[in-house]
Parts: sequence; C-alpha cells; structure tokens
Amino acid sequence: MLTVAIVGASGGIGAAILNELASREDVQCIHATYYHSLAGGSVGSASGFASNTDIRWSKLDASSDEEVALWLASVGKADWLINCAGMLHDATHGPEKSISSFNSEHFHNSMSINCLPTLLLGKYARAVLRNSPCGVFATVSARVGSISDNRLGGWYSYRASKAALNMALKCLSIEWARNAKSLRVAALHPGTTDSRLSEPFQKNVPEGKLFSPEKTARLLLEQIGKLHESKSGTFIAYDGEEIPW
Ligand SMILES: NC(=O)c1ccc[n+]([C@@H]2O[C@H](COP(=O)([O-])OP(=O)(O)OC[C@H]3O[C@@H](n4cnc5c(N)ncnc54)[C@H](OP(=O)(O)O)[C@@H]3O)[C@@H](O)[C@H]2O)c1
Repeated sequence: MLTVAIVGASGGIGAAILNELASREDVQCIHATYYHSLAGGSVGSASGFASNTDIRWSKLDASSDEEVALWLASVGKADWLINCAGMLHDATHGPEKSISSFNSEHFHNSMSINCLPTLLLGKYARAVLRNSPCGVFATVSARVGSISDNRLGGWYSYRASKAALNMALKCLSIEWARNAKSLRVAALHPGTTDSRLSEPFQKNVPEGKLFSPEKTARLLLEQIGKLHESKSGTFIAYDGEEIPW
C-alpha cells in the first residue's frame, strides 16, 4: 500500500492527482498541501465519491525552508512525493512577450514558486522516501523549461524558473544515485491542461490538445508508477516521451 505526499494539491493538476489516487485501492494515505485556500475545489474526501483513503491536509508555503522541514517531518514516511506547485501569472503580471516587459518582482516570484520548492523538498525528502521500495520524487515542470526545445522565445521568467527547476532535479538525481540508490527523481511535463494557470492562454491551443486535469493526472501517475531506475534524472512528458533538457 502506498503513502503519497502531494504539494499543491489545491491546484488544477494537484487536485486531480489527489482524487485519482484517492480512488485507488493501493493508496492508503495521502498527505496533501494547499497554500492560499482549498476554495478552488472540493477535493479529496469532500469531492463526492467514497474513499477509504486517509487524506491529511496541511497549509504549506513550499518556498519556506522552515515550513517544508516541519511538513515533511510530520509526513514521516512516504513512497511518492509529487510537487504540483507552480505559477505562470498572478494578479499583476503575466508571461513576458518580450524582454521589455520583464519585471524583477515577477521573476523573483516565478523562481520562488516554480524552482525553490523543489530544492527545499529535495533537502528534506531523502529521509522520508528512502525506506520505500518504490520511492519517487517527481516535480511537475513544463516543456517550455527545456532550453534545447525553445523555438519561440518569450515567457522569460516562467521558462527560466522551470529550466532552473530542471537543473535542480538533475543535480538531486545524481546525488541520490550515490547516497540513496533506490530513489528515483523526475521532472514531468503535463501537457496543456485546463486549470487556473492555463486559463488565459487556452484560446490558441489546438483542438484536442487541452487536457482535462483528470486525464493529465492519470497520465502523470502512469509515468510515476513505471519510473524505472534508468530513467531517474530525466524530463518525461505525459506520454512517456523523454524531453531533451
Ligand atoms: N496547466 C498547464 O497547462 C500546465 C502546463 C505545463 C506545466 N504546468 C505546471 O503544472 C503545475 C501545476 O499547475 P496547475 O495547472 O495545476 O496550476 P494551478 O491550478 O494554478 O495550481 C497551482 C498550485 O500551486 C500552489 N502554490 C502556489 N504557490 C505555492 C507555494 N508558495 N507553496 C505551495 N504551493 C503553492 C497553489 O496553491 P493555492 O491554490 O492553495 O494557492 C496550487 O495548488 C505547475 O508547476 C505548472 O507550471 C501546467
């Protein structure tokens, strides 16, 4: 039976992952976090389906070292740690079309939400995952964080923060391959998914390419479930494609 910890389980993708896991018979406990509120959706035990899974909610700012340390200490042991926290736009700023609209505060916020949590979770996760026979730390990244795949430019802060996140995960996979060999690490690309984050940018998405959060959750969990040791430290899309860094 699996114990899973999900950061950002109040978001579109995180909530769908939570609900998918809560409907499975092989998941006994889910530690789920929100940051601002759970108002975006009635997730988990309140979502209208019967689940025997023990769901434990915590409020967590995943960019706070102290809060991450305390939360993971309260989690204790887990098999999978899945980080779904992220930010593309906020009330005052969206992704930059050109460098002239670059804004320092937006850049710092992007790094703080898209990259920093993975470093802090990595700092404390080894002790939580290391006794699991199938320990995985996966962070939801984005294909636009791939440097070699960048053909359109723009979105400076989001792209840079996801590229930094990818580098952090790669470093962690190398370190854990030395001192926690059973653990696997992956950056995941979810595909464009209908959520608060993608909502302002959905009109140009080709037909059939906007996934429901439920579909994305099923596909990402399939990738996590079959993550082989040889694939640890890679960037994997929802369909199993290995994305170049
Ligand atoms: N949707 C897409 O098309 C798409 C495409 C590529 C990649 N992604 C990536 O997928 C991930 C999930 O995105 P989404 O579409 O589900 O977005 P979303 O619905 O906006 O959810 C974002 C989540 O991040 C949490 N969060 C924000 N700041 C946080 C902090 N400091 N500490 C802890 N949690 C924090 C939010 O918590 P609260 O709501 O409680 O504040 C929410 O749970 C992100 O990393 C995003 O970059 C999404």
